[in-house]
Amino acid sequence: MSKLAVTVDGLKFKNPFVIGSGPPSTNAKIMTKAFDAGWGGVVAKTTSLTDTEVVNVQPRYGKLKSDKTNVGFQNIELISDAPFEDWENWFKETKDNSPDGILIGSIMESYEKGRWQELAARCLESGCDALELNFSCPHGHPEKGMGAAMGQDPAMVEEVTRWVVEAAGGKPVWAKMTPNITDITIPALAAQRGGASGVSAINTILACIGINLKTLRPQPTVEGHSTFGGYSYLAVKPIALRMVAEIAQATSGLSISGIGGVTNSKDAIEHILVGAHTVQSCTGPMLQGFGMVDEMCEGLEAFLDQHGFDSVDEARGKALSYFTTHHHLVELQADAREKKAAAKRFRDKEWGEGDIQSGTDKLTSE
Ligand SMILES: Cc1cc2nc3c(=O)[nH]c(=O)nc-3n(C[C@H](O)[C@H](O)[C@H](O)COP(=O)(O)O)c2cc1C
Repeated sequence: MSKLAVTVDGLKFKNPFVIGSGPPSTNAKIMTKAFDAGWGGVVAKTTSLTDTEVVNVQPRYGKLKSDKTNVGFQNIELISDAPFEDWENWFKETKDNSPDGILIGSIMESYEKGRWQELAARCLESGCDALELNFSCPHGHPEKGMGAAMGQDPAMVEEVTRWVVEAAGGKPVWAKMTPNITDITIPALAAQRGGASGVSAINTILACIGINLKTLRPQPTVEGHSTFGGYSYLAVKPIALRMVAEIAQATSGLSISGIGGVTNSKDAIEHILVGAHTVQSCTGPMLQGFGMVDEMCEGLEAFLDQHGFDSVDEARGKALSYFTTHHHLVELQADAREKKAAAKRFRDKEWGEGDIQSGTDKLTSE
């Protein structure tokens, strides 16, 4: 078996790389393309029961560039606008095309037990291996009490997770966290209390990608106006790594799907080193294509070999013990300086501990 294979919450991924919910997972055709390209898993675009109103606008994306290179991306896209009946067919078709790929249904609903449970059960009956609960979309849906509006309320996260776990018949349930909150460990622990086997973090960060200096209008501009949207891609990686690390430190027995700013193997390995079991990328494939997974697999394998790790599990969380408080950093530095100074000092009683010439050298100016 390949070194890159991971088993998370009983799901066997051929590598830990998973397509994040969004445009690269919007129907059966594109999800099959992702599996064919070599991704270990796909989280489908978020869906809800058919009577949920989803009306998208165009344009709905914006890019932040530095010297013509994309660094940040913003979207005001809603969840899937396809009827849920289409999704039932797409899940079946995708699973038929790629039986070994791990297919995760992403669901969002209003605050009604029956709706969440129906949606969960129908996704699983259509072939999904697991579910991700979208408690985190930062635009559009919060205005209607869904998405991040639920994710910012730990009691709701716990309760809705419990409803879905009850309907999931033992299949893994991951709760997707919003970063638009002060302490991400609070909803993560709430999801765990509700029975989630894992959390996915992070969804996009509420942002304003820019203002057009000619028209004075915020972007993306729709009929002269805009709304704050979800920020993603490389620029959000530092925030994502901090939040994944915080969840890993605060929880035990909860799997983490690290998301945010993954553009290559280095970004993905960093997520693993702060505690991620799997790593998702959404804007990465949108801007770079599904083929980016080849370099991610090669880079991860080379990294494991270089450090003598036999599996991804062995590398997971290896950076976590090096995070400490600022106060402790000051103490560590004072200790290190004292040790250095002591090494330079040379007293008469130390003659004879090494050879006499090195004692002479220590006392001789260069
Ligand atoms: C255009 C776009 C649409 C998205 N749609 C969804 C969605 O339907 N459901 C969801 O949970 N996350 C959605 N996301 C968020 C991503 O899955 C991911 O959490 C976020 O973009 C950060 O990862 P990235 O930097 O790899 O893109 C979307 C992101 C983008 C860019």
